[in-house]
Amino acid sequence: MKSHLDSLREHSLVVADTGDIDAVARWKPQDATTNPSLLLTSAEDPRYQPFVDRAMREARGDVPAAMDALFVLFGIEILKHVAGRVSTEVDARLSFDEAKSVEKARSIIRLYEKNGTNRERVLIKLASTWEGIRAAEKLEREGIHCNMTLLFSFAQAVACADAGVTLISPFVGRIYDWHKQARKVDDIPLEEDPGVASVTRIYNYYKKHGYKTQVMGASFRKTGQITALAGCDLLTIAPDLLDKLSKAQGELPRKLSVEAAKRADAPKISMDEKTFRWMHNEDAMATDKLADGIRRFDADARKLERLITSLSAAVPAK
Ligand code: E4P
Repeated sequence: MKSHLDSLREHSLVVADTGDIDAVARWKPQDATTNPSLLLTSAEDPRYQPFVDRAMREARGDVPAAMDALFVLFGIEILKHVAGRVSTEVDARLSFDEAKSVEKARSIIRLYEKNGTNRERVLIKLASTWEGIRAAEKLEREGIHCNMTLLFSFAQAVACADAGVTLISPFVGRIYDWHKQARKVDDIPLEEDPGVASVTRIYNYYKKHGYKTQVMGASFRKTGQITALAGCDLLTIAPDLLDKLSKAQGELPRKLSVEAAKRADAPKISMDEKTFRWMHNEDAMATDKLADGIRRFDADARKLERLITSLSAAVPAK
């Protein structure tokens, strides 16, 4: 009998959400996504110590340059095991700086290209702030494809589609976490899961209005949240949940489809900066989670910098 994972692959492109290269090699996903927290975990793993050493040598002891080099080294290694694309995130400190985000994305792409990787195989991940979305709009015009992350509100999704970004990553699990905490409950059943509902609404809106931007559900806490979104363009899934899906048997029904989306009640929203800021601010969960997400990615990136710095003394500059 078919596993849930095989069945899911018939409806959606399965992506691995990890910085663990061995896990990518094991699961052979179409694409892979990383973020600063995942790469911190990998950099702390003795298996990947040579990458940290090499990044430090290539950057000749310059810590910010070593961070970029490390992210790109992981990306290049991951690309050896996927047919598609890898996502590399821009420093969260730049989340409110359009110009510096553009500059950083260009330098990441230059590093990939210097190492022989075509930009078509890379997605630059940016936080879905107003400034991040404007940066992505500019980058897309230069042929640099973007994956908009930390996406919690409908306003963020509408603005990303209008900006013509390649892909968005609406989060499920962190929305679920927020509502669980707010309601003081241990679980929310799938039929009422606000994270699943958020991705469904965004998918329907995009397909109904014919947007090209791909929707990739992200941040899952349980397999039910993934299977409830079967049919979404892509789903990025952590290795432990890929494992569970591979062990469960049976056919999964498609839950999201273009046909159903066309019939959905999803009136077109006209978005500008003031509307974006107002709509996003009206959503308490999204306001909290975007701010918290930026702080968390920043904290992990700073930890990674400290790790690199502590190792730099041991690594002779080239
Ligand atoms: C992927 O692109 C996201 O960074 C990731 O799914 C976040 O997952 P988390 O909420 O489990 O950290």
